[in-house]
Amino acid sequence: MYNSKAYSAASATSPLASAKINRRDPGETDVQIEILFCGICHSDLHQVRNEWSGFMPTVYPCVPGHEIVGRVTKVGSAVKKFKPGDLAAVGCMVDSDGTCPECKAGLEQFCPNLTLTYNFPDKHLGGVTCGGYSDSVVVDQRFVLRVPANLNLAGTAPLLCAGITTYSPMRHWGVTKGKKAGVVGLGGLGHMAVKFAHALGAHVVVFTTSPGKKEDALRLGADEVVISRDNNEMQKHAGSFDFILDAVSANHDINAYLALLRRDGNLTLVGAPEKPLALAAFNLIMGRRSLSGSPIGGIPQTQEMLDFCGAHDITSDVEVIPMQKVNEAYERLVKSDVKYRFSIDMASLKSE
Ligand SMILES: NC(=O)c1ccc[n+]([C@@H]2O[C@H](COP(=O)([O-])OP(=O)(O)OC[C@H]3O[C@@H](n4cnc5c(N)ncnc54)[C@H](OP(=O)(O)O)[C@@H]3O)[C@@H](O)[C@H]2O)c1
Ligand SMILES: [Zn+2]
Ligand SMILES: [Zn+2]
Repeated sequence: MYNSKAYSAASATSPLASAKINRRDPGETDVQIEILFCGICHSDLHQVRNEWSGFMPTVYPCVPGHEIVGRVTKVGSAVKKFKPGDLAAVGCMVDSDGTCPECKAGLEQFCPNLTLTYNFPDKHLGGVTCGGYSDSVVVDQRFVLRVPANLNLAGTAPLLCAGITTYSPMRHWGVTKGKKAGVVGLGGLGHMAVKFAHALGAHVVVFTTSPGKKEDALRLGADEVVISRDNNEMQKHAGSFDFILDAVSANHDINAYLALLRRDGNLTLVGAPEKPLALAAFNLIMGRRSLSGSPIGGIPQTQEMLDFCGAHDITSDVEVIPMQKVNEAYERLVKSDVKYRFSIDMASLKSE
């Protein structure tokens, strides 16, 4: 076991503060990574503030962070995929049983024995897993991804959650040339969804509550932008979408979006607001529409997404911050005041 510098929250109402945490010494199949950047996902904030208490109560102290890129510092004797000095990335998962049908299908995100990167029982050290707001992490090689060499590292970190969470459902629901795809909420997830839908060839429409994001949405790859609080603008798109991805972090009316789907269209929720959402049955019944959800993505598809980003030169638009600004960043995240993802530069931990 060794010590790693980190930022952790002591309770739902405390700010994140400097702390020392334990990491295991790398075992046979482990990769030890010096973390260079970690993105700030809205899920980090939900978890730190215990906003998902009904589903995934937070265990304190909590070290969040599941958008990790860094450099390999050490590998176990059985590790063939990585060597010290390689770039490497870790997302929302750090372990699974590897034997169930979901794991065998490369859909580890559905494994009944999954271990998430933070706030999940830690099989090695006891307690719960600690995430990427830290200078070092040790992860089994099965959950370590390769990073394309051409990508900017600060902008690559958010691909590990915001990237795969938007890429995966779009591949599942066949977003491609000739399809009309909507993206609701231009935040960390939403702006990646726009880039992917555009790169996949779809006609992309962004729904935003922030009129000031219109120009950015077009620059990111949207063909049209709708200010979602304007009913007239919304009505113009009634019954026309093949697919809509909803990436909103707060409670909102999903019925307004269901009504925009064509026959057999699908709305996938990736946003996970604190409270249940209301659903008007006729919005599904009429048009045989469907509503679904989607969690992150499996390891093979996460690597596929990273390679797709390498080939299309896609990264997240980031504001790089030192760790010491994390609490300020959380306040801004709640106000949708970031373009479009905070990425923490872990070099800032050296002074702690
Ligand atoms: N399913 C998964 O596996 C998964 C993975 C990662 C994250 N998530 C969840 O996805 C959600 C989004 O995460 P994120 O990191 O992208 O968050 P984010 O950067 O804060 O973006 C959320 C966006 O939602 C919109 N929004 C915020 N408050 C709103 C309100 N009251 N009404 C309508 N729209 C509002 C804003 O877009 P506009 O300004 O454009 O309106 C905002 O930029 C979170 O709930 C997060 O926990 C799920
Ligand atoms: Zn996330
Ligand atoms: Zn499994």
